[in-house]
Amino acid sequence: MACAIIVNMTHPFQTIGIVGTGAMGRGIAQICAQAGSLVLLHDSQPQACGQAIESLQAQWQKLAEKGRLTAEQVQTYVGRLRAAPTLADLSGCDLVIEAIVEKLDVKQSVFQQLETLLRPDAVLATNTSSLSVTAIASALKRPERFAGYHYFNPVPLMKVVEVIAGLRTDPVVCQQLDAHARATGHSPVHAQDTPGFIVNHAGRAYGTEALRIVSEGVSDFATVDRILRDQVGFKLGPFELLDLTALDVSHPVMESIYHQYYQEPRYRPSVITAQRLAAGVLGRKTGQGFYRYTDGKAEVPVEAQVPVFAVMPPVWVSSRAARRAELLQLLKDLGAKIETGASPSVQALCVVAPLGFDVTTVAVVERLDPARTIGIDLLFADASTRRRVLATNPATREDMREAAHALFASDGKPVSVIRDSGGFVTQRVVAHMVNIASDICQQQICTPQDLELAVTLGLGYPMGPLAMGDQLGPDNVLETLFNMQTVYGDPRYRPSPWLRRRGAIGLSLTHVEPR
Ligand SMILES: NC(=O)c1ccc[n+]([C@@H]2O[C@H](COP(=O)([O-])OP(=O)(O)OC[C@H]3O[C@@H](n4cnc5c(N)ncnc54)[C@H](O)[C@@H]3O)[C@@H](O)[C@H]2O)c1
Repeated sequence: MACAIIVNMTHPFQTIGIVGTGAMGRGIAQICAQAGSLVLLHDSQPQACGQAIESLQAQWQKLAEKGRLTAEQVQTYVGRLRAAPTLADLSGCDLVIEAIVEKLDVKQSVFQQLETLLRPDAVLATNTSSLSVTAIASALKRPERFAGYHYFNPVPLMKVVEVIAGLRTDPVVCQQLDAHARATGHSPVHAQDTPGFIVNHAGRAYGTEALRIVSEGVSDFATVDRILRDQVGFKLGPFELLDLTALDVSHPVMESIYHQYYQEPRYRPSVITAQRLAAGVLGRKTGQGFYRYTDGKAEVPVEAQVPVFAVMPPVWVSSRAARRAELLQLLKDLGAKIETGASPSVQALCVVAPLGFDVTTVAVVERLDPARTIGIDLLFADASTRRRVLATNPATREDMREAAHALFASDGKPVSVIRDSGGFVTQRVVAHMVNIASDICQQQICTPQDLELAVTLGLGYPMGPLAMGDQLGPDNVLETLFNMQTVYGDPRYRPSPWLRRRGAIGLSLTHVEPR
């Protein structure tokens, strides 16, 4: 419904300059004009500003046709846009937001010029996603008036913006940007100047762990996507997301964050995406990524059929089994013939539900016959998920795999059968995600509240990683990580002190120590 134009400036930015009128500059200009500021647009390409103004006008016009704006609003908003052919035309701005090419020296040169043109108390802000705010500011005479102001694409729809304090930024500048963001209807989150800030840092877990799972031969990418959508509730699987973002954007981000953190194993990228990038298999935009696209629609490989099994073997569950009560209840609900004796009968299928361990390790520790042993992932309660995931080990007999598949699919719930993996698929990805989020808090990059807000709004996850860790139990996530580290011997999975301490004491992952 169209509404009256109310302009109530709660920030000092009456006139805002935008440098760079590409995808991001246009979006930022749109929300600034809608919130009541006069917006001056500058671009190094002579035609670019005129095109940006025309495109914004067309966009507002479309909203008016849908009844979401009045003709008067369109006129007012368009009247707030001006082309600024030279940087000197921005001299009267209270704030200049830069959204140009992602190159340190080019950004520094633009800000050095702006600094000589604008009032000393004007604010300069960069929309950089991967450069250091402090490094850009190092070329300036007044680094205290400079901050990061990182929006997401498409700006009007992605309602979160990261306000990033460089090492020498005056906190007042961040407060002013915070007030401006709120006036535009965005949620500001505050981050220290560190690689990836909040959203691109917290987002490292999802894709990189999924790539590790596929590179280990645990499962194919389409199965990993199905599992994470159905068990956790992600809107897009990691490979669908990589196809959407395109590898020419996402692979360099993975490499950049990894190297900026001095080869931190938690962020290690994958040769899979490096090779695909080299081959030009980028994703949706090239018609082929992990999926092949016809008329914009992905061709999704079909799932394996549920085997038909005439006579089900009995199922044995150890008295020491992890998640025993839940496993027994599920088997009972499925009508399985359950054995709970000291050892399995010769024909029994042995089902285990490890947390972080692989099926092989549990079979060896419990002295089970690996040929008859299968694992099921019960990290999330069975009733809360739309898919069950079973894992074999290298010795599992085909008839046992098929019997387990048929049994766990017998009530119609989809089942994926994967190869052995410390932490199946979901445990690995979720534990890694909670761990990286925890370490962001440990490093004091942002508050737990801002982290949760940034991740839900910026990445669209079904809930914040800390809330997910709390729901699963920080002690369970901790155990998963310890066991994954044992299986893989990889420091990638070492728990962050934030998670280790809260998990050990029984505190929420959002708990902040009092001073
Ligand atoms: N596209 C995204 O999803 C996204 C998201 C967040 C942040 N960012 C960041 O925003 C910035 C811009 O990204 P984009 O996707 O809008 O790029 P874009 O290529 O769509 O637009 C960049 C614009 O800047 C202009 N430009 C280049 N050098 C200039 C200069 N020296 N002076 C004036 N104008 C100049 C170009 O002519 C172009 O119009 C980058 O720093 C990028 O990292 C992009």
